[in-house]
Amino acid sequence: MSELPFYMQGNFAPIDRESTFEKLEVIGEIPESLRGNFMRIGPNPIEGDPGHWFFGNGMLHTLRLEDGQATSYRNRYVRTPAYLGEDRPMVGPDGQVDRTATTANTHIVAHADRLLALTESSFPMEVTRDLDTVGPVDFDGVLKTAFTAHPKFCHKTGEMLAFGYSFLPPFLTYHRVDAKGKMVQSEVIEVPGSTMMHDFAITENYVLFLDLPLVFKMEEAMAGNMPYVWDDSYGARLGILPRNGGNADINWIEIEPCYVVHTLNAFEAEGKIILDASRYDEFPDVSFNSSPGLMTRWTIDTASNTVKEETLDDRNCDFPRLDPRLEGQPYRFGYSTEFATGPGLEMTRLIKYDLDARKTEIHEFGAGVAPGEGVFAPAAPDSAEDEGFILVMTRDENREQSELQILDAQNFAGDPVGRVQIPQRVPVGFHGNWMPDAK
Ligand SMILES: [Fe+2]
Repeated sequence: MSELPFYMQGNFAPIDRESTFEKLEVIGEIPESLRGNFMRIGPNPIEGDPGHWFFGNGMLHTLRLEDGQATSYRNRYVRTPAYLGEDRPMVGPDGQVDRTATTANTHIVAHADRLLALTESSFPMEVTRDLDTVGPVDFDGVLKTAFTAHPKFCHKTGEMLAFGYSFLPPFLTYHRVDAKGKMVQSEVIEVPGSTMMHDFAITENYVLFLDLPLVFKMEEAMAGNMPYVWDDSYGARLGILPRNGGNADINWIEIEPCYVVHTLNAFEAEGKIILDASRYDEFPDVSFNSSPGLMTRWTIDTASNTVKEETLDDRNCDFPRLDPRLEGQPYRFGYSTEFATGPGLEMTRLIKYDLDARKTEIHEFGAGVAPGEGVFAPAAPDSAEDEGFILVMTRDENREQSELQILDAQNFAGDPVGRVQIPQRVPVGFHGNWMPDAK
């Protein structure tokens, strides 16, 4: 048994080169309607063990699809200060936090003609489709805090809703960016302490904060450990804020203590707010030996300030995604990655949820083939929900082959439509997105 932590072994291990490949082999077909770039980001430590899976330097991978072909693959580090060898501590001797000192390793999103590589402790880093780094984004100086790796996008207004959390006050700040990319609102939200808030959710009229008992401890930070630790005494609350509101407008509702790494979606229905997310009894420890994450629905009655909680599925899941056009809106279908239980992170299958029929479907990849996050790409801008494709990077350990697999969302359990053969190993990463070309 190797002494290395799980994230330095196997297909979690970093790769040591930046490559460009043209005209990739495809098994099956690339749908003609898919014209754009699939982009995915993850930690890829430049040297040595960074101490936690979350802390490696961000590396982007992109595959270009057009005219029924996979025309290119490339991977590049985000040119962060750490990548460039600049010795810039995140917290300076004056106590000021340098929000440009990012790992840029967690998510890649598109908004207002910009691509943003995100890590929740820092400012976004703008990159190009060819994976060149433009630089940090502070929205013309309006952004003063960290910026979540999981902003939400309202398809109706074109807004990007976001927040930043910090171990120093203000612990939580809400951000609203308009469709043109201008940060039009930045509001401090009062919370009792600094909790790790990896994700949140939106509805048509609200944003939902999850203030859960994973609490910052300075002594852990000083020891170089994961600084957010479980603290039962903190309690757990959902904060419901009108999207253009401020701290005085927020409604906090107590819930049973738990942890949510990622939400699937939220929406309003019949005067209630529905939140769907993968729910853990506690946050996974450093070896990810945790209670399972179970897809769970919270139904919030804001008139009585009560919450009903129900488990939707008993499979251990995370990386939940949906049709991006329905973020914050009533929806029927979700998709997630199933994980084996036990220490380490072994991704096994993809799950599709029909939340109306309360049914699931499974996509099996076969022995030795592990999927990452499944990203939904609509077949066309006006196609129906679920009418499209699931794009997922896989690793076949039998063939030592990384692929981008394209599944038909409406034939979820069936064989992939196409499998792009990637000429180098793509390590397990975090999140990605389908970036269709502008029409
Ligand atoms: Fe995430």
